[in-house]
Amino acid sequence: MLFKSKKDIVGIDIGSSAVKLVQLKEVKGGYQLQNLGLLPLPPEAIVDHSIMDPTVVQDTVRNLVESLKIKTKNVATSISGHSVIIRKITLPIMSEEELESSIQWEAEQYIPFDINDVNIDFQILGPDAKDPSQMNVMLVAAKKDFVNDHVGVFADIGLTPVVMDIDCFAVENMFEASYGSGAEAIVALINIGASGMNVNILKAGESVFTRDIQVGGNMLNEELQKRLGVSGEDAERLKLGGKVEDVDAAEVAEVLADAAESLAQEVQRSLDFFSATSADEKVQKVFLAGGVSRSAQVISALEERLGIPIEVINPFAGIHYNEKEFDPEYVRAVGPLMSVATGLAMRRVGDK
Ligand SMILES: Nc1ncnc2c1ncn2[C@@H]1O[C@H](COP(=O)(O)OP(=O)(O)OP(=O)(O)O)[C@@H](O)[C@H]1O
Ligand SMILES: [Mg+2]
Repeated sequence: MLFKSKKDIVGIDIGSSAVKLVQLKEVKGGYQLQNLGLLPLPPEAIVDHSIMDPTVVQDTVRNLVESLKIKTKNVATSISGHSVIIRKITLPIMSEEELESSIQWEAEQYIPFDINDVNIDFQILGPDAKDPSQMNVMLVAAKKDFVNDHVGVFADIGLTPVVMDIDCFAVENMFEASYGSGAEAIVALINIGASGMNVNILKAGESVFTRDIQVGGNMLNEELQKRLGVSGEDAERLKLGGKVEDVDAAEVAEVLADAAESLAQEVQRSLDFFSATSADEKVQKVFLAGGVSRSAQVISALEERLGIPIEVINPFAGIHYNEKEFDPEYVRAVGPLMSVATGLAMRRVGDK
């Protein structure tokens, strides 16, 4: 092609355990996979979602982009964690422009940080079902420093972050595209990564409750290290089903089952909180994303504790790919880790 489309975009998810990249092309009736890859990060590079070692993160992003021969400079990326606040609020009906000029003032009471230290974004969801003079608005606020750190990673290596999303909305975006949003049911999308999880409850396809919890797969490693006295590296190996000399497999299974149980407890707490604050509505099904959804122990702990169906999302379910170019086995295996990056890759230049 003579002129490369200016709309080309690549989804890059900087997670605390790895940088993940997905590039899609829009084709008739859906998407075609163009590029897919990930590179691990050392555990100390990102801690609690904060970039501690920008050089390492930049080198990793650069290596990934170069090794996959990505041509576009436009990046869709996302953030999450305690520096990001997501609130669904109710305001008197007003136009987008009116809200734009008053959002700073309206938002102040919902944000636990100094209003001058945050970037604010919003989306008008529509009139309130109970009171038509009011409307529901999704409010998002993120600490400026935090956003700038993430933007800086890309800017310093010649990439342009054109879309700054939130992890849980990227997962929702991917879910809608691949699974549809038509269901009237109440479902929870739960993305469990290395250092945290994002819970997003959808009712009839609309987000009604979100929550970030600062517990993720690393907790399994910490328990293994603490209870079996193994190194961080060995803990990761054991967690992924590998063997370590002089470590009893039955003991490993027991520690993992206990830790999975604690994770499931955290999930249950969130779902219970949702029920308690929404006229006792109950989540009917959980869709899992994130690397930790590969863990059989975590899935069975969730099934047992929640007593509702648990399904692992395949972000590539609705995406065409050439099996000569991408090994289906690999695509399936990395799927859970690619949920955020896939949702990002579906964004377009100009999206918020
Ligand atoms: N089979 C498995 N069993 C248990 N855990 C697994 C398995 N495969 C991957 N993981 C874990 O999944 C995590 C990586 O998932 P993911 O890529 O979603 O996290 P991340 O995006 O890097 O983290 P975060 O979003 O918390 O910053 C790691 O903790 C990894 O050990
Ligand atoms: Mg993640």
